[in-house]
Amino acid sequence: MTEDHPNQPTAGQDGPRTGVWLVGARGSVATTAIAGCAAVASGMHPPTGMITETGAFAGCGLPPLGGLVFGGHDTASCPLPKRAEQLVVGGVLPHGLPAAVHAELAAADSCIRPGGPLPGDLREGEGPRSDEDLTDAFAADLAAFTRDNGLDRTVVVNVASTEGAPDDGDTELPPSSRYAAAALRAGCPYLNFTPSTGLHHPRLREAALRSGLPHAGRDGKTGQTLLRSVLAPMFAQRALSVRAWSGTNLLGGGDGAALADPGAAAAKNAGKERVLADSLGRMPEGRLHIDDVPALGDWKTAWDHVAFDGFLGSRMILQTVWQGCDSALAAPLVLDLVRIVARVHECGGRGPVDGLGFYFKDPDSGPGDLPGQWRELTALAGRLRAAA
Ligand SMILES: NC(=O)c1ccc[n+]([C@@H]2O[C@H](COP(=O)([O-])OP(=O)(O)OC[C@H]3O[C@@H](n4cnc5c(N)ncnc54)[C@H](O)[C@@H]3O)[C@@H](O)[C@H]2O)c1
Repeated sequence: MTEDHPNQPTAGQDGPRTGVWLVGARGSVATTAIAGCAAVASGMHPPTGMITETGAFAGCGLPPLGGLVFGGHDTASCPLPKRAEQLVVGGVLPHGLPAAVHAELAAADSCIRPGGPLPGDLREGEGPRSDEDLTDAFAADLAAFTRDNGLDRTVVVNVASTEGAPDDGDTELPPSSRYAAAALRAGCPYLNFTPSTGLHHPRLREAALRSGLPHAGRDGKTGQTLLRSVLAPMFAQRALSVRAWSGTNLLGGGDGAALADPGAAAAKNAGKERVLADSLGRMPEGRLHIDDVPALGDWKTAWDHVAFDGFLGSRMILQTVWQGCDSALAAPLVLDLVRIVARVHECGGRGPVDGLGFYFKDPDSGPGDLPGQWRELTALAGRLRAAA
């Protein structure tokens, strides 16, 4: 790490410089992405789980990992190096990693600005800051980050706690939409890795269209839904009749606590269920539960129970158990998405980015099955390669 710049990348400085602005920058996914990027860029760890480091994206002109510069917003204040130590205790990050990438964590930490709304978030004592006030403040933070770090572009990624779906009567924008509006105002491509509303708010539709900025979402597809997007098409293609598909998720950590709220859980489950409706052509019987088990920390157990009929009505059951480390599954996808969308922006791409359904539970467009989504992703890589 050089001393003359607060957030100078250590390697790969040739080519365009790309900022990564994480909304929820002190969370598990964000901290794992920042620490993991430094670890992979320096050769300390292999890029396991990163598709952009495979042959599928060779020659596409993606920004190098070592050239990514991190900053973000958060409503929490725990410093990133300490957050990384907590993730070691939780078994998410390997021992020794926070010390090895301390300079990169501290550099990113120095670029994190207070998010909002915060309790007592008042405008010079006059009352709560309005949508406009917050959006303006967030956009100013983004512009300053891009300018002060000499960046060619900054990609904004929402990895903040999941919020409940807004009510029809809500007059204010949900926080995720204020950040999305700020991204548009600051001219930044936008990614929504959560099920929160973000850019999907009706009041942002016009501004999103006008901005022409590339964007993609929603909700990273890392575990149970990834498996569902492989298994549901299998049942459909084999002409087996799925009678019921039930699932339970046990998880802790900040995400588990946030999803203990029924509104937030409903927003999450809508995306998880969409993949079944898309693949099977209807929603089978069965419910999906998310239970907060703080003792599990960032480790998730997802159990699926599929009841299906075979020839002559013979009744059968498939059960799957997925045990994964949520942030270790999510962080490489965040890094992939940032690099791809930064390159799409550089190539003049506009609006919803086609071909990223592979990464999302609730994509804007494209097929619902994983093989179909993989074909679309590799087609996108082909377009980027042709532009390189
Ligand atoms: N496998 C995965 O981990 C996975 C997959 C898909 C989606 N996601 C989504 O990614 C998000 C992050 O997950 P996590 O495990 O890192 O959660 P986390 O609780 O560890 O981190 C969330 C962070 O967001 C911050 N935050 C909350 N409200 C904010 C606001 N208004 N402005 C700015 N920051 C705010 C919190 O302080 C916290 O630091 C969640 O919405 C989760 O549903 C995760």
